[in-house]
Amino acid sequence: MSNLAAIDDAVAKFKAILKEQLTRIEIMKQGGDWIDLETVSPLVIGICGGDGIGPLISAEAERVLAYCLREKLSQGAVEFRRIEGLTIENRVAANKAIPDDVLAALKACHIILKGPTTTPQKGDKWPNIESANVAMRRELDLFGNVRPVRVPSLGIDWIFFRENTEGEYVLGSRGFDVTADMSMDFKVATEQGTERIVRLAFEHARKNGKRRVTVVTKSNVVKTTDGRFSAVARRIAADYPGIVLDEWYIDIMTAKLLDPERRHQFEVMVLPNLYGDIITDEAAQIQGGVGTAGSANIGKRWSMFEAIHGSAPRMIVDGRADYADPASMIKAVAMLLAYIGHAETATRLEKALEICVQFERNVVITGRSTGATAKIFTDYLLSWLASPDMDATHQRYLEATR
Ligand code: IPM
Ligand code: MG
Repeated sequence: MSNLAAIDDAVAKFKAILKEQLTRIEIMKQGGDWIDLETVSPLVIGICGGDGIGPLISAEAERVLAYCLREKLSQGAVEFRRIEGLTIENRVAANKAIPDDVLAALKACHIILKGPTTTPQKGDKWPNIESANVAMRRELDLFGNVRPVRVPSLGIDWIFFRENTEGEYVLGSRGFDVTADMSMDFKVATEQGTERIVRLAFEHARKNGKRRVTVVTKSNVVKTTDGRFSAVARRIAADYPGIVLDEWYIDIMTAKLLDPERRHQFEVMVLPNLYGDIITDEAAQIQGGVGTAGSANIGKRWSMFEAIHGSAPRMIVDGRADYADPASMIKAVAMLLAYIGHAETATRLEKALEICVQFERNVVITGRSTGATAKIFTDYLLSWLASPDMDATHQRYLEATR
């Protein structure tokens, strides 16, 4: 194909993409109301194991969730629904990021607890289909990816609000090779898409008495999309007079998270999709690894709770799956509980996790047979959760960190 023909071809593709994006904006403008979870009964929680280490750590997380919601489950106010089929084999067979029947089953729930899913890369043994995570976030319009990282002993109490449907992720796998020599992906920032994530961050700050929100961009170089992100943050900040907005560039931010003099000063961070992806792995590492970090994917109609990491195919290949860390998924359970209005139970679970992972550490996960299995760790956690000494022990932990 001549270069001119290649350009015409690319323009046609780009035109279709632009039309879709403008339609998406119209849908965002119409808004729609937030679902009122207090009025739904039964509250249906879909449990979707995923693949790789997913089904294993999800089963442990489900045990914890069932324990925490035991009364609601027995009253029939909450229902668990297992959703099978979000495996790489099924997705490849359907040639879809999420097979239609699985998507319909997900949409029939109010809340989803999801295990990690394999995301193929070019050259893998799987066809290079789109990430199920990215597709689910888009299909269910889960625009707010909320990722807390807390390390009391280092004075760290961060919460990241990662935009979850735009940026470099907006088109999933639909970038294209314009010619044999040139590839293009797209980065999109919309006024509406940015506003909703920034508001989510500011509302969190307001409700939790935080005085500062930090927007993280690279708007000095990525002037248009990141420039919009930072401008929207400044516009929204004006609605929150008691809260200061500051802006950091992503490169120096990744350095500052490692700076013992500065890092405890950050609290609430809001950032575009890809920067949020990268920096939350770094933050999680400071907390003890990605295996310790959970995330909430918030939308108006649905929400989905998951680990921040992938399906660890290497652990499967090495036969180490039983030793995978379920803490990330259990953290996601705590976020789920808080989201559906069980704040006290959620706090108890977080405290029990901190005792197990950061303080007492009688059962330690190493990801190998040198450490405990996910099941034994979860038994350990459940015994702390039920223990009458839990609060006092957590208090001792906090005092020891002072
Ligand atoms: C995450 C993951 C996903 C992402 C992958 C698995 C597609 O890294 O949730 O952070 O990039 O968002
Ligand atoms: Mg990630």
